[in-house]
Amino acid sequence: MSSILTNGDLAVTVNGMRFLNPFVIGSGPPSTNATVISKAFAAGWGGVVAKTTSLSDLPVVNVQPRYGKLNGPHGDTIGFQNIELISDRPFEDWEADFKKVKEQWPDRILVGSIMEQYDKGRWQEITARCLAAGCDALELNFSCPHGHPETGMGAAMGQNPAMVEEVTSWVVAAAGGKPVWAKMTPNITDIRVPARAAKAGGADGVAAINTILSTIGINLKTLRPTPTVEGHSTFGGYSYRAVKPIALRMVGEIAMDQPGFAISGIGGVCSSTDAIEFLLMGASTVQSCTGPMLQGFEMVHELGEGLGAFLQQHGFATVRDSIGKSLPYFTSHHHLVELQAEKKAAKAAELANRDTEWGKKDFVAEAGNLVSHKE
Ligand SMILES: Cc1cc2nc3c(=O)[nH]c(=O)nc-3n(C[C@H](O)[C@H](O)[C@H](O)COP(=O)(O)O)c2cc1C
Repeated sequence: MSSILTNGDLAVTVNGMRFLNPFVIGSGPPSTNATVISKAFAAGWGGVVAKTTSLSDLPVVNVQPRYGKLNGPHGDTIGFQNIELISDRPFEDWEADFKKVKEQWPDRILVGSIMEQYDKGRWQEITARCLAAGCDALELNFSCPHGHPETGMGAAMGQNPAMVEEVTSWVVAAAGGKPVWAKMTPNITDIRVPARAAKAGGADGVAAINTILSTIGINLKTLRPTPTVEGHSTFGGYSYRAVKPIALRMVGEIAMDQPGFAISGIGGVCSSTDAIEFLLMGASTVQSCTGPMLQGFEMVHELGEGLGAFLQQHGFATVRDSIGKSLPYFTSHHHLVELQAEKKAAKAAELANRDTEWGKKDFVAEAGNLVSHKE
């Protein structure tokens, strides 16, 4: 393991939790049981958001195949789609896994991810049980775009700000002060609205984004959409490299709207450059899910080395010093036009000032540029 990941040089404290580095496994296959979570920590990840779980009586039946890839002209994968549901393991197994992982990795941050029906008792029970089993924080899955919304869960809740606020407040009330992050769906017109609702409900932060509703392709021979299950498909969640620009924009929108609100940025992180961009846009931790699925947990070594070099190059003493540093450079399009007009005028004035330039354009306008008081 590269020591920069664990020697404290990249440490960042968020909502009172000290992450040895800001790199966190996003909820999904790379966090689906204690064995894979331990492998992630062994590779050097600072935190893991476990695969979303629910109380055991909630039926979860997955299908196969459930993934699809979009490859570029050179064969490299650009985008990834899944129609996977939340964990199909009994909740009691998760409680045992949380305990085991936390005992083995006390210096790493373990975030439980939960999804439930619109029922206060169920949300509060699963909250209390995850925290009792050792989770350092909770992430509320208001964002899974396929399967669960058909039964009023996941993105169906995330698209309803009143519900986001209410359910968040139930969890916060049962969490005894432990941090609560609400995971946002990008399948909404304005992501600031559910983020504000989560804050109003008492959340300590948000994770953004979950997958973008999509269909990865259609088989032109059979006319069947993919991934094809018994000749049919359903819209699924799009992730990996191609979604990063959209995720960055959404993280930036939340950061500008809610300064100081913790954001765990996620969507298309494949390299240290991607991760640093999320920090510069206001995220204080950076998650990756499809990245480790396709590249392996060891990708975190390049993340650590790249971030270390970047901090040094810019003279940032800590990760926190870099957070949000690109936000001041966003403005309205109208302002861009004004800035460009000002620059052009300044350049014209400068050129007209040199005798060799006189007469190349409109002589009278050139003279006018040198008048100090224009009436
Ligand atoms: C196969 C797969 C399963 C996922 N399962 C979950 C899940 O159970 N809960 C959740 O909150 N997000 C889940 N996600 C979404 C990811 O955590 C993440 O928000 C999204 O994929 C974008 O990040 P990425 O491009 O780094 O994968 C899943 C993603 C994939 C690809």
